[in-house]
Amino acid sequence: MTLRQPFMLAGMSIPPATDQAQGPAIHVQGLEKAYKELRVLRGVDFEVARGSIFALLGSNGAGKTTVVKILSTLLKADAGAARVNGFDVVTEAAGVRESISLTGQFAAVDGILSGRENLVLIARLWHLKDPGGIADELLRRFALTEAGNRKVATYSGGMRRRLDIAMSLVGNPPVIFLDEPTAGLDPQARAEVWQAVKELAQGGTTVLLTTQYLDEAEQFADRIAILHEGRIIVNGTLAELKQLLPPAKVEYVEKQPSLEDVFFAVVGHAGEDDKE
Ligand SMILES: Nc1ncnc2c1ncn2[C@@H]1O[C@H](COP(=O)(O)OP(=O)(O)OP(=O)(O)O)[C@@H](O)[C@H]1O
Ligand SMILES: [Mg+2]
Repeated sequence: MTLRQPFMLAGMSIPPATDQAQGPAIHVQGLEKAYKELRVLRGVDFEVARGSIFALLGSNGAGKTTVVKILSTLLKADAGAARVNGFDVVTEAAGVRESISLTGQFAAVDGILSGRENLVLIARLWHLKDPGGIADELLRRFALTEAGNRKVATYSGGMRRRLDIAMSLVGNPPVIFLDEPTAGLDPQARAEVWQAVKELAQGGTTVLLTTQYLDEAEQFADRIAILHEGRIIVNGTLAELKQLLPPAKVEYVEKQPSLEDVFFAVVGHAGEDDKE
């Protein structure tokens, strides 16, 4: 299943930036969600500033995808409120859908088509002018120009992922959600995706990404939040998170705590809570 939704079919009319232009790109307050007995989200609060990269970090099953689904209107929360690009995810869901793109963990590209054809197809669905020009520009941005006319079936995992992200940018959504953008990629391919995401934010797009890779968040997120047992237990810049630990020890060389150290210090090691 792909998480990318055909939201682009709804048309191009992103409402004029009035209220939408002010305030954070994403505002989440008191979000709760249970699947039957399982209380996955128990009051999640956070904000994401416009044009920034926000990493939502958490272990398997922490509820990261659940948050992303609620923010992209695929799932209703039991309680709490969320706004994306100024629109309420429940009462103004259409506005939210026109403001976002969502890229799930598995690349949603069509292997029989070429990379360029995939992009042209999406641009046509959006009824954009000059689909070919848009495709070429995105291929260039994601370093896929040379591979553009090859069938996607021949692409490496990293190339597919980059194309997937490129496809989510057709139509220039102001907010993009990347659910585990580099899951399963090798280090080289991950670095390529990171570069692409950095460029996105430099262009003013707001990026919310989820990841289990701590180094990924450490690489480029402006803010990092850790979701644990249904709540955001830490939210700050990397520097702020590192301050949660005692000062670095000086032995022969100064050893800075990694984000991984911070993560395990605040979350505890897996299974620790169950041992009481
Ligand atoms: N539709 C559903 N019905 C029942 N339980 C669900 C459903 N979707 C998710 N869950 C459960 O809710 C919890 C949170 O799931 P979610 O997919 O949000 O976690 P995640 O942080 O994205 O995990 P991962 O890192 O593995 O992707 C998990 O325990 C999962 O099994
Ligand atoms: Mg997930």
